[in-house]
Amino acid sequence: MNPAKLHYWILGCFSMALCCWCTSEKFIYSDSHPHTWKKLYLAHHWPVTVCKMSANDCEDPPKYWTIHGLWPDKTEDCNRTWHFNVTEIKDLMSDMRHCWPDVLHSSLNRTQFWKHEWDKHGTCAATLEILNSQKKYFGKALELYKLVDLNSCLLKAGIKPSSSYYQMTAIKEALTRFYGVTPKIQCLPPEEGEKAQTIGQIEFCFTKQLQLRNCTTLKDESNPVQAHLKLGTEELSVCNDNLPTYYPSEVQDHKQSHKSLKNF
Ligand SMILES: *[C@@H]1O[C@H](CO)[C@@H](O)[C@H](O)[C@H]1NC(C)=O
Ligand SMILES: *[C@@H]1O[C@H](CO)[C@@H](O)[C@H](O)[C@H]1NC(C)=O
Ligand SMILES: *[C@@H]1O[C@H](CO)[C@@H](O)[C@H](O)[C@H]1NC(C)=O
Ligand SMILES: *[C@@H]1O[C@H](CO)[C@@H](O)[C@H](O)[C@H]1NC(C)=O
Repeated sequence: MNPAKLHYWILGCFSMALCCWCTSEKFIYSDSHPHTWKKLYLAHHWPVTVCKMSANDCEDPPKYWTIHGLWPDKTEDCNRTWHFNVTEIKDLMSDMRHCWPDVLHSSLNRTQFWKHEWDKHGTCAATLEILNSQKKYFGKALELYKLVDLNSCLLKAGIKPSSSYYQMTAIKEALTRFYGVTPKIQCLPPEEGEKAQTIGQIEFCFTKQLQLRNCTTLKDESNPVQAHLKLGTEELSVCNDNLPTYYPSEVQDHKQSHKSLKNF
């Protein structure tokens, strides 16, 4: 077990102990079941950044934000006997390929990515009647993605991939103004010797009624399970409001060439 995992494990035991304690003290007023959750994250990722994070077979990543997943907070892998079956979503296939591609393994069997998302998150989301089949879960995620239409929002706000930097607060304010809710924005932290972070993921939060809501945690909610995207040694984390932010148009940029120069 690596130290990070151990940390979560200890934290998990601690919260479980806490839960038992509150249950026995009758402090729990509503749902404390491990499979209950409060909100859904619709995570979009920027394929160029995802490709930068991993020397994988990312060939010519899409130049638009694609779906990473639709994730209930606070829970994972809720039903290990409910197997992914690609036949169930065959009617969604053309949208799935366009909106929800496996960016990292473009030449591999792309259904593995969808299987992973279903196993880990879909089986938990399925406690809602509107999401209680694979067709409903993937279909609703596609619907929300089209509704949010992040790509055109960013374009309208004049935020385009480029080689210059954005202020994180400007991106955040533009999105909050447009949607009326605050999304969660994740970045690749600056590399050594760099000052800019790289935007990688934008997550919108929804209530169980599938209404947009703020991603900020309300007072009566505990913090969500941190859904980090970790690839090799690089990891996305919540963007720093005070750092210049890079929104790259190409996987190979000045940073990469700079790095390879340094290596010689
Ligand atoms: C898990 O999924 C299977 C297959 O869909 C279903 O029969 C079973 O009732 C589910 N179990 C729970 C606890 O939801
Ligand atoms: C997959 O889904 C299809 C369509 O619903 C069904 O006919 C088939 O039996 C399923 N396959 C498995 C292995 O469950
Ligand atoms: C892709 O993987 C799925 C299982 O997730 C399998 O059913 C399917 O046959 C595979 N397709 C190819 C082309 O390998
Ligand atoms: C989101 O939070 C802002 C303040 O941070 C508030 O003005 C707004 O009403 C909230 N929106 C929703 C849908 O809760």
